Amino acid sequence: MSEYETILIERKGRVGVITLNRPKALNALNGQLMREVVAAVEAFDADDEIGAILLTGSEKAFAAGADIKEMQPKTFAQVYAEDLFSQWDRLSAARTPIVAAVAGYALGGGCELAMLCDFIIAADTAKFGQPEIKLGVIPGIGGSQRLTRAVGKAKAMDLCLTGRNMDAEEAERAGLVARVVPAADLLEVALEAATTIASMSLPIAMMAKEAVNRSFETTLAEGVKFERRVFHSTFATADQKEGMAAFVEKRAPKFVNG
Ligand code: CAA
Repeated sequence: MSEYETILIERKGRVGVITLNRPKALNALNGQLMREVVAAVEAFDADDEIGAILLTGSEKAFAAGADIKEMQPKTFAQVYAEDLFSQWDRLSAARTPIVAAVAGYALGGGCELAMLCDFIIAADTAKFGQPEIKLGVIPGIGGSQRLTRAVGKAKAMDLCLTGRNMDAEEAERAGLVARVVPAADLLEVALEAATTIASMSLPIAMMAKEAVNRSFETTLAEGVKFERRVFHSTFATADQKEGMAAFVEKRAPKFVNG
């Protein structure tokens, strides 16, 4: 029996799949779901047999936001003392690449959870938004920061201030999502992308992820210097030797994750 109640866990080859599973609440992110997603991501991240993580929801909703019914009775003192939503920050510490496969609603915390992943593959049914303002609050899991970095100030302000949703096409044009695919193909395409990532050298994939993420934290000159040092360090791995030898010998590489 699974140790989790609000998510489903599966292994598909070297991909760890996490499916949000509170269908009656459109996968609203309550405290239990947050703890379970964080625990599942950390468990897959610590597992040498897992080379990529795929996070998804249902056809109707990736997640319709933080659980409003759970939040409603809370006081300022409570949300401040428990530092509500701070546990989600632990997903940013995961080294293993995380792909989000989003169909249907990805609103509020749902949009923020998708943005906590490394990239988003969206079904043509996906709807993204930060509607918190309509509830008298603002985004609380990084939406005002990550959405702005992803789509720029104009659209981030538009979404955060009007609370309107953006469809998958607009989200792709704006740079929020990497690809849009027909809803029926979403899981297959996302699993294929995650499987491709998991077929690479895991330490090198981690370095690539770390280098891209550094661009959000530093200046261009410092970021380029960081990238170059990490690039140099790839030459210390067996997988760089194997990857380049395989190219020269016109064969597929066999990475050893070292
Ligand atoms: N929290 C708690 N329950 C939610 C929920 C949420 N965020 N979203 C949906 N649900 C529940 C509904 O209450 C309903 O439950 P009942 O059957 O018990 O009434 C069930 O899920 C189905 O929802 P609807 O009947 O509303 O379904 P719909 O198809 O008519 O509408 C929707 C779908 C437009 C997504 C609508 O549910 C909605 O607007 N949800 C709220 C979206 C929202 O405001 N999200 C932001 C939350 S705040 C936040 O996330 C803060 C943050 O930054 C961390």
